[in-house]
Amino acid sequence: MQQNQRMSIAVRSSSGVWGSRTTFVLALTASAIGLGNLWRFSYLLGEQGGAPFLIAYLLCLFFVAVPVLVAEVLIGSHGRSNPVSALLYTSARSDITRAWLVIAWIASIASAIILAYYSVVAGWGLAYIGKMQSGVFSDASAAEVGRVFTTMLADPQQLLQSQTVFIVLTFTISALGIFRGLAVLFWFSIPLFLVALGVLVEYSLLNGDVTQAGEFLFSVNTYDFTAESVLLAMGQAFYTLSIGVGIGMAFGAYAPDKIPLGRTVLAVALFDTMVALAAGLVIFPIIFAANVEPAMGPGLMFVGLPYAFGNMVEGELFGAIFFITITVVALSSAVALAEPVMSYLVERMRLRRPVAALLFGTVTWFVALGCALSFNEWQDVYWYQQMTLFQLLERVSTVILLPTAALLTALLVGYCIRREILRVELYRESRLFIFLWRFCLRYIAPPAIVIVMASALLEKF
Ligand code: PHE
Repeated sequence: MQQNQRMSIAVRSSSGVWGSRTTFVLALTASAIGLGNLWRFSYLLGEQGGAPFLIAYLLCLFFVAVPVLVAEVLIGSHGRSNPVSALLYTSARSDITRAWLVIAWIASIASAIILAYYSVVAGWGLAYIGKMQSGVFSDASAAEVGRVFTTMLADPQQLLQSQTVFIVLTFTISALGIFRGLAVLFWFSIPLFLVALGVLVEYSLLNGDVTQAGEFLFSVNTYDFTAESVLLAMGQAFYTLSIGVGIGMAFGAYAPDKIPLGRTVLAVALFDTMVALAAGLVIFPIIFAANVEPAMGPGLMFVGLPYAFGNMVEGELFGAIFFITITVVALSSAVALAEPVMSYLVERMRLRRPVAALLFGTVTWFVALGCALSFNEWQDVYWYQQMTLFQLLERVSTVILLPTAALLTALLVGYCIRREILRVELYRESRLFIFLWRFCLRYIAPPAIVIVMASALLEKF
């Protein structure tokens, strides 16, 4: 019986292989670069002490997040199929319990939840392209700019319109498939993003307050750097590499043979960090030039920045470019987020891709509707301890599901999988690399993840 089961699992069913290593790198990069790089990293850097925070972040990135992402990609690449099948295959090959499958379920649920609320925020970005360009913010006062944002949030119809456009775009691309949809988007979106980022950095350095931004971002303030800063650095490292949501497995399934998985992931992490730093160079000179208090999250993105752009030369144009950039980046992350569940529906449920996209897109739309209503009609409806649906979904996914999936992945690959599998999948990496990677997975990542999770849970649940 067990033999039979293994035989059937052994028929791996990947829908293909990325055309080249570059596409694979672009895919991982596209899922990594997102709102986290734009509205969170640089603020934390400035607020949490500068250089010491950067060092803490890099340590968490390279010793915890990167090893976990390598482990995820390895499972996908070994199983050559959706996260569920890949985990079944990998555990069967290692003669261990198939209960590890639970990782795929947790990760898939996390990805679906994140996709829903990500679409809501991405919809705001989409709406702001038009607003910015129309000149609503030109010479507007800070209060007026704030009012535009609150008025938008209070209007369910407006929110619904833009998130519907975003969700339709996401699932149309996803329906086109890995090669005609995702790969084409990534080849187009990453270069476009880099050009736009370059243009914005130049604009900001020319017109913004570079000295003050430099002081904010890079001066060393050890007294601002606390234990909490380390936790924030770790959380940021996890979130930015998009670990724990099954993307690494889903994309690893299409990784071309013979690529050095470890070095590829390392390169993606480095690049992602450089992008996050560059985003800081766009945002803070502009913010300081307009005398706006630095902040992070929606307040920075949808109030502080539009106000600052509105008061600068050619701010409408560059502001619009900024919001186009955000939308493109969010779209790439969203398409990546849809992939773990999409590949499951196509490969295991045997649905055609367009049908799967329609089905999953509809579910996402309804959950996103609930999230959008959290800002108006359901503003006072608390689903759990004073949290609106939007807040609850955001917390549950990032504080519980995502770290749990990452933790289990580290334990599975660090302790349970056959060594030969690791050696085969990582055969292009040096022995030293494999040793260090395994060491991190076994001894560093698990306690680090538990500490972050426990501290976050104590704070809010
Ligand atoms: N990595 C993305 C960012 O930095 C966010 C993300 C998290 C995307 C999890 C997909 C999955 O914004």
